[in-house]
Amino acid sequence: PVRAKELSKSTPALVSEVIKQSESDTASELSFRYNWCRKTNCNDSHSSDMASVSSVSGSVLSVYSGDFGSVDTQGSVQFALDYNEKSKEFQIYVTQCKDLATVDERKERSDPYVKTYLLPDKARMGKRKTSVKKRTVNPVYNEILRYKIEKSVLLIQTLNLSVWHNDTLGRNSFLGEREVDLASWDWSNRKLNWYPLKPRSLSIRNGVDHCGVMNLSIKYIPPGTLGPKNPPTGEVHIWVKDARDLPQLRPSGVDSFVKCYVLPDTSKKSYQKTRIVKKDQNPLFNHTIVYDGFHTEDLKDACVELTVWDHEKLTNHFLGGIRLGMGTGISYGIPVDWMDSTQEEVALWQEITSNPNEWIEATLPLRSSLAGKRKFRK
Ligand SMILES: *[C@@H]1O[C@H](CO)[C@@H](O)[C@H](O)[C@H]1NC(C)=O
Ligand SMILES: *[C@@H]1O[C@H](CO)[C@@H](O)[C@H](O)[C@H]1NC(C)=O
Ligand SMILES: *[C@@H]1O[C@H](CO)[C@@H](O)[C@H](O)[C@H]1NC(C)=O
Ligand SMILES: *[C@@H]1O[C@H](CO)[C@@H](O)[C@H](O)[C@H]1NC(C)=O
Repeated sequence: PVRAKELSKSTPALVSEVIKQSESDTASELSFRYNWCRKTNCNDSHSSDMASVSSVSGSVLSVYSGDFGSVDTQGSVQFALDYNEKSKEFQIYVTQCKDLATVDERKERSDPYVKTYLLPDKARMGKRKTSVKKRTVNPVYNEILRYKIEKSVLLIQTLNLSVWHNDTLGRNSFLGEREVDLASWDWSNRKLNWYPLKPRSLSIRNGVDHCGVMNLSIKYIPPGTLGPKNPPTGEVHIWVKDARDLPQLRPSGVDSFVKCYVLPDTSKKSYQKTRIVKKDQNPLFNHTIVYDGFHTEDLKDACVELTVWDHEKLTNHFLGGIRLGMGTGISYGIPVDWMDSTQEEVALWQEITSNPNEWIEATLPLRSSLAGKRKFRK
């Protein structure tokens, strides 16, 4: 089982004062099970932490659900792009889709529509939608979605075009998406083309808006590296250095901290956090977190989730996050929507995996949103 332990607040050196070892061995109905152990030498009063850690049983498992009734992506969308210089209008001519997935198996039914955004700043230009076509996996739209925008601004955008099933109860399902980098688009090409839809998890810049970046360094230490049975199991060391250009949520600057989980575990035992850095858009955390209990096989099924939060008295606000994993959409044989690492994140994780015992440094963009609502169950 993978276990978590925490090192010093500030150094990547190995320290180990065992506080609590959870050895509960309850079988869960899923094929994975985690027993976490936390080690720390922090000088904070952590008695309450200890109490909460020891109260968590080993059978916690988490189930994620992002979209309602998530379906496998299939089919294609046909569209053409144009920029009208005169009216300074970007036009997306959406003609049709074919072979879309059927959402409601029982009723053999999908009610698809097409939605567009311009990234990175999704909110600024807003979304556009086609009409909803009922009971068809081959909808025909022949509609033009329009954005009034300067060409120079348009050229730094990415078009995000997604297809959705419109559920009568508002539980819409994602059917697939395409992204078009408008900087490299050939604007002389006004032809209609078919584009195969891609699943969201494979999207190149999944949710990367202007949310700043995080500097971090990670290494994997396989069992036995430092001598016989030392460490007894593999360890992942995560050195959270700093974040830059965090969203300016408040005029006085954000009071930020970083939370860390190793998914699929979302229990307290998997949870670690840095200190809060006050009133700074470029906080220096310089904090090392260590998880042990890793077997080399776990590296492909686990996912390190780092999220940055603005700390306020009553609530914390999400500022951005990254997920380090293989991005396969699958963890221990189970499809999960949080296994959605971007190309950059996957590249870092692969580098860590293939270069054991080496600190791998990276600067990664923080994603503005992380898919997957978590449900907890004991
Ligand atoms: C981070 O912490 C280490 C150990 O305490 C210290 O030596 C180093 O100077 C710190 N780095 C920065 C950038 O403050
Ligand atoms: C989807 O259906 C609901 C309820 O039937 C409706 O109110 C809503 O406007 C529809 N959404 C779109 C994008 O047309
Ligand atoms: C594209 O838009 C869809 C629908 O809002 C969203 O779920 C998806 O995450 C977006 N993709 C990116 C890369 O932002
Ligand atoms: C973070 O990365 C930037 C750019 O690579 C670099 O200038 C900065 O010194 C880094 N910060 C730390 C704490 O390593």
